[in-house]
Amino acid sequence: MVSRVIPVDSFDIVIFGATGDLARRKILPALFHRYAVGQMPDEARILGVARREINQQAFKTLVRDNLIEFTQLAVKEPKLLKSFLEKLTYFRVDVHGEDGWSDVSGALRSNVKRVFCFSVSPSFFGLIASKLHATGLANPDCRILIEKPFGHNLIAAKSLNNELLNLFSEHQIYRIDHYLGKETVQNLMALRFSNALWEPLWNSTHIDHVQITVAETIGVSGRGDYYDRSGAMRDMVQNHLMQLLCLIAMEPPARFEPNSVRDEKVKVIQSLEPVLPTDIVRGQYRDKTGNETYRNHVNNPDSNTESFVAMKVNIGNWRWASTPFYLRTGKKLKSQSSEVAIIFRDPPHMIFPISEERKSNALIIRLQPNEGIKLHNMIKEPGPGGFRLTDVSLDMTFANTLGTGGNSQDAYERLIMDVIRGDQTLFMRGDEVEAAWAWVDPIIAEWEQTDVLPAFYQNGSSGPDQATSLLHRDGREWRDIC
Ligand code: BG6
Repeated sequence: MVSRVIPVDSFDIVIFGATGDLARRKILPALFHRYAVGQMPDEARILGVARREINQQAFKTLVRDNLIEFTQLAVKEPKLLKSFLEKLTYFRVDVHGEDGWSDVSGALRSNVKRVFCFSVSPSFFGLIASKLHATGLANPDCRILIEKPFGHNLIAAKSLNNELLNLFSEHQIYRIDHYLGKETVQNLMALRFSNALWEPLWNSTHIDHVQITVAETIGVSGRGDYYDRSGAMRDMVQNHLMQLLCLIAMEPPARFEPNSVRDEKVKVIQSLEPVLPTDIVRGQYRDKTGNETYRNHVNNPDSNTESFVAMKVNIGNWRWASTPFYLRTGKKLKSQSSEVAIIFRDPPHMIFPISEERKSNALIIRLQPNEGIKLHNMIKEPGPGGFRLTDVSLDMTFANTLGTGGNSQDAYERLIMDVIRGDQTLFMRGDEVEAAWAWVDPIIAEWEQTDVLPAFYQNGSSGPDQATSLLHRDGREWRDIC
């Protein structure tokens, strides 16, 4: 299937931290891909800003090398790469002082969309935002693009929101949760709200429980400092898993329009019930040799930070009362596998003999890898020899069904183009971020007060045994991580 590409308006994007990790791995490759398919117009320009003393040529060489490292396309299309590099200009700016700001200002055009991408540590967000105003770079139509963490807790998130909202309007602030840019995550909304089939079943009368799993094989090497201060709860649950939960649980918005969608998500977060300590399992990875342990990776032999969380979450509203959502995420698990599983209730009366083969109907929304949707049904096992049931799935793996070959666009490609289009549907609103912290904070406070130690799990496993018990105790089972 050929996707239609509608070019966005011309723009100037200023990337603060242009030589840093996020810009190199995600932002610049995303822009390059959108340029290659003709969505980023030829007149658009990229202004790279950092504190390094390098000349234009050195900057372009750096970006070229990074693109070759991180995107196949740059290797295959050298001409395209060359013309993309022509869109780039480098500016050395001292964000604390005065140097370089007037050069950026002189290069910005007044008749195109203006985007400031803060690809820097969050501790610089407030400073850069205020400099944009002090130096006259900000205009009423400009947008700022920031990436989590949005604070470390509710107080910090509020203070960051206030700081930004003193300078910019909410409609100018684009808070990225890159999970919202993932194809299949958006498909959660398409599936629910463009088909008549699901809505009558989408409630606690028909859904037994929901499992949300984001399992990673990578550890925390390289980001130990940040991660050890955050843990899986702050790093993944407060944002990515929360967004997934919202998209599954929210009421149908009146329109597919930023505030309609975000209003419904906020209502879900506000309906979350406090989580009982007995409904959460924290884990930390280690291995038999004692070398590949979390504590080694973060250089903190006493760390009790969790690299794994599993929890049972109840949503206190009419649609979901008595349908628990089980959330699980962790590092160094047996496979990279992210999925949402909607497990339906069994038929009220079973006319066939009870057998091991019979499974509950399940709708599996696979986020990565092998994006797609599967619906598990029971049918009669073909052939003679009695009436036996077997589980088969209606399979909509996107690579096969849509011919994407598994090459859907990266989340950042979609999100950056949405910033230019001025569409905030897939970005988090300030109150959404605060509501999520308001729910997470007491859970973390309880851990801190009681000094609960994480349960250890082996590298390459499915997590601690206690996570398995969390479902067993309710007569349920996690789906295998595969
Ligand atoms: C980031 C977290 O937000 O998301 C990382 O900080 C995590 O710890 C990453 O590895 C997962 O994203 P993805 O797209 O690889 O699933």
